[in-house]
Amino acid sequence: KENKMDSLINVFTTILLILPATMFVKSDHLTPILPRKGQVSVARGLINQLINNNVKNGNERPFIAGLVRLTFHDCVGHGGCDGCINHQSPSNGGLARYTSKLNEQYEILRSFFHALTMSRADFYVLAGYVALEQATVSSPNRFVAKPTFGRLECSLSPNEDHLSEEFPNANWNLPELKTFFSRDGFMQGAGFELQDIVAILGAHSLGRCSMANSGFEGKWIAFRNANGISQSDVLDNEYYKEIANTNWQQVQLVSGRWQWQQTQEPNPISPLDGEGFAQNVFQSNILINVDMSLNKDLGNINPQTGRVECTVQSGNGICRGSNCCQQSEASNLLLKYTNRNNGNGNFISDFTRAFYRMTTNKEFERLVNEDQLLP
Ligand code: HEM
Repeated sequence: KENKMDSLINVFTTILLILPATMFVKSDHLTPILPRKGQVSVARGLINQLINNNVKNGNERPFIAGLVRLTFHDCVGHGGCDGCINHQSPSNGGLARYTSKLNEQYEILRSFFHALTMSRADFYVLAGYVALEQATVSSPNRFVAKPTFGRLECSLSPNEDHLSEEFPNANWNLPELKTFFSRDGFMQGAGFELQDIVAILGAHSLGRCSMANSGFEGKWIAFRNANGISQSDVLDNEYYKEIANTNWQQVQLVSGRWQWQQTQEPNPISPLDGEGFAQNVFQSNILINVDMSLNKDLGNINPQTGRVECTVQSGNGICRGSNCCQQSEASNLLLKYTNRNNGNGNFISDFTRAFYRMTTNKEFERLVNEDQLLP
């Protein structure tokens, strides 16, 4: 009799343990459960630890950029921000070194709270917010936004169950970029406008490209920050100042892809450490076509290599000759962020709004602000 009772208790406990997990999975009939404030605060601590315990090349904290890119890729496509990444897709190249450690932190969070009610989808988005807080920590213009909770995971989280998601292509010109952001199911419902597109791409002031991941090589902003912080860990308007500078030319890399540099020599390829992170070598700033398209209409582009036919280079700020690329439709919108008076403040405030919209764009989920969670 006791045995029977034991097995009944076991079945009951198993159901109780499985229940919260199934409530995260997307379905029309289930409502997501929300984390408690205490869970959010422990989760924040674990994400901060991940960022601060992974220092490379003296002072670089690559998880700042990596977690921001992860949030974007998690939010693209079917199901929005759903805690699911398809590591087989070449567009997600390089994300596994971030997700593997972030998933470990999620398991630690689970072990702290046996009935954890924060979905992995919420945890991934929270990671992007925490990384952005760190990216402006020593700046006069801080990224301050309350993350939201209540997201549902896809059925195979942390793997993707929808394998045909379309990611943006680095070779694109502005019209394709606009189509991508207005596409049904991504940002259309969020009321994303051209200024939001210009603002959200400012995330490229963080981090770098690596040949092994994307076929591009180098940081958008390579110089060292005066106060000892790596500039590639800082979210600011330097990116727009660089785009507005017209001393760029395309160079072809060994991958066959063309990127924009201010020097004729392609960047040396940075060796990767055992975990896949670039080891320091001197490289110059880069742009890829989507960045350049915010200032210049790139005209005809070779879809495979990204080679552009027109030129933007000029020694004195004005390109001369018949082959110069025209200004793009977004070029006037850059001025808001290059403005000497409050360019950085304008950028951080528009970026914050755009990032918030990107992470809350699913109409079928009722998301709840951090302040409204139960203690
Ligand atoms: C929409 C057009 C976009 C394109 C074509 C694009 C393309 C790329 C490429 C090719 C890389 C280099 C990956 C590598 O080699 O490791 C990259 C990195 C990055 N992207 Fe984007 N991106 C886009 C938009 C965004 C957005 C909207 C965000 C964030 C809100 C973002 C955040 C980042 C960050 C932070 C990195 C650096 C990652 C690291 O250092 O590990 N990107 N992107």
